[in-house]
Amino acid sequence: MNRRQTRIFAIASTAIATVVFLALTVDTHRQFPTLTNTDALTEEVVRGQNVWHKHNCINCHTILGEGAYYAPDLTKITQHRGVPYLTAFLKDPSQFYDEERHRRLMPKQDLSDQDISDLIAFMDWVSKVDNQGWPPRPILVSGGSLPGTDLAVAQQSDRSSPEAASPPPGATPVTQGNDPRALGEALFRTVTPACTACHSIAPGVNLAGPTLAGLTQRAQEVIASADYKGKATTVEEFILESIVEPSAYLYPGPMYSANGTSFMPNTYQKDLSPEQLDNLVQYLASLR
Ligand code: HEC
Ligand code: HEC
Repeated sequence: MNRRQTRIFAIASTAIATVVFLALTVDTHRQFPTLTNTDALTEEVVRGQNVWHKHNCINCHTILGEGAYYAPDLTKITQHRGVPYLTAFLKDPSQFYDEERHRRLMPKQDLSDQDISDLIAFMDWVSKVDNQGWPPRPILVSGGSLPGTDLAVAQQSDRSSPEAASPPPGATPVTQGNDPRALGEALFRTVTPACTACHSIAPGVNLAGPTLAGLTQRAQEVIASADYKGKATTVEEFILESIVEPSAYLYPGPMYSANGTSFMPNTYQKDLSPEQLDNLVQYLASLR
């Protein structure tokens, strides 16, 4: 190429790159309303965003990748924790863990009930922004725990991939295929919200929900106890009831329920087929 051709080439390629860049930028902006569900931007969501900023939640947390890394990311938090849990947590986080075991504390935020429901609406809106697959794996937070919980085990089974949580000794090994227990075990990890976001099956590891190790024996004791008011008469019925109607019987502890309402989501009856529920029950009934 001579100098003239070189110049034309440089100008033309710069022009083409600019046009492509502008077109893509415009296209991205055109998609914002759909990706971010602008229709769902209610007054509540906007108020919640103001509360979020006013209380500097971002000094500790990230949302959509923005913020500080002291505390867990909250982008998808409402898909892992139900409204009753989040409401109680935001009212008084100290009920849910203690400094000695978790090392980090979330200070009480002095939020009104209105602030809290607005914040949850905001976080729920954020959780539905289409992030095109980010984050690739759910970012889970450890929640409640009882005295005696081993932090190391809790964090390990909470933060590592759910597959890493090995069944407790004595659990019948689950075989692959169409075995209902294997299907139930898979559902336990993949249903939304994932059971593994709140439950470990390792003894003594209590996350936002109690450990399900020893569930069969506990179920028998609960059914036989005088203060059990639910309808179950067998272990399987008790487990099913726990999943479809969590408040029928409440596991003791202020970090698991408030005012007679369990912090476990009550959406599974609606979201799972009877067969899926049965698979889950069979899997959980096999835990020792
Ligand atoms: C001083 C730092 C700090 C500030 C400010 C803060 N948080 Fe937190 N938050 C934490 C820590 C630390 C945890 C994790 C506790 C744990 O590991 O169990 C947490 C956990 C949470 C959780 C997850 C609870 C769970 O168990 O899943 C939510 C939701 C939350 N914070 C919301 C908020 C909101 C909303 C605000 C602002 C109003 C806020 N936080 C302000 C430190 C903070
Ligand atoms: C947001 C957290 C959360 C999620 C997600 C969750 N649970 Fe729970 N679960 C709890 C809490 C809190 C309790 C204790 C309060 C109660 O008794 O309902 C509980 C209790 C239970 C119990 C009764 C335990 C006992 O010893 O009485 C069973 C069984 C159970 N959950 C199974 C499941 C299954 C199966 C899933 C998934 C389909 C699931 N949970 C999802 C929080 C959760």
